Amino acid sequence: MKIPPAVRCASALLTIVVLALAHVAASHAVAAERFELPPETATFKPGPGVEAVKAQCLVCHSAEYVSTQPRLPRAFWKANVQKMKEKFGAPIPADQVDTLVEYLATTYGAPEKKP
Ligand code: HEC
Repeated sequence: MKIPPAVRCASALLTIVVLALAHVAASHAVAAERFELPPETATFKPGPGVEAVKAQCLVCHSAEYVSTQPRLPRAFWKANVQKMKEKFGAPIPADQVDTLVEYLATTYGAPEKKP
C-alpha cells in the first residue's frame, strides 16, 4: 500500500512531537531529583567535656539526637552512652565515658534531686 505524502509528513511530525515531549519529561525527572539540604545548624551547647562529646557523638548523627530529648536523669545518659557504645558500635574509649555522661547530665539532664 502506498502511503500518501501528507500522512507520511504527519507521522514524521508526530514522531518529533513525541520525542520532544519525552525529552522534556526526562529533563524534568532529572531536575526533580536535585534538592538542597538545609545547612546543619544544630550543635552542642558549650560546657566542660563538649569537645569530647563533639568528637564521639557527631560521628554518626547530629547534635539534635541529644538536644531534642526531654530533660532526662543522669542514669538515662549513662545508659544512652553505653547503648551507643555497645549496641551501635560507637568507638568511645572507656576512659571518656565519665566525661561524656557528666557533660550530658549537666547540660541536657534533669535537675538533680536534692536528698
Ligand atoms: C556508631 C554510631 C553512633 C555514635 C558514635 C553515637 N550514636 Fe547515638 N545513635 C546511633 C544510632 C544508630 C541511633 C538510633 C538511630 C535511630 O533510631 O534512628 C542513635 C540514637 C541516639 C539517641 C536517640 C535515642 C536513642 O537511644 O535512640 C541519642 C540521645 C543518642 N544517639 C546520643 C548519642 C550520644 C550522646 C553519643 C556520644 C556519646 C552518640 N549518640 C554516639 C548511633 C551512634
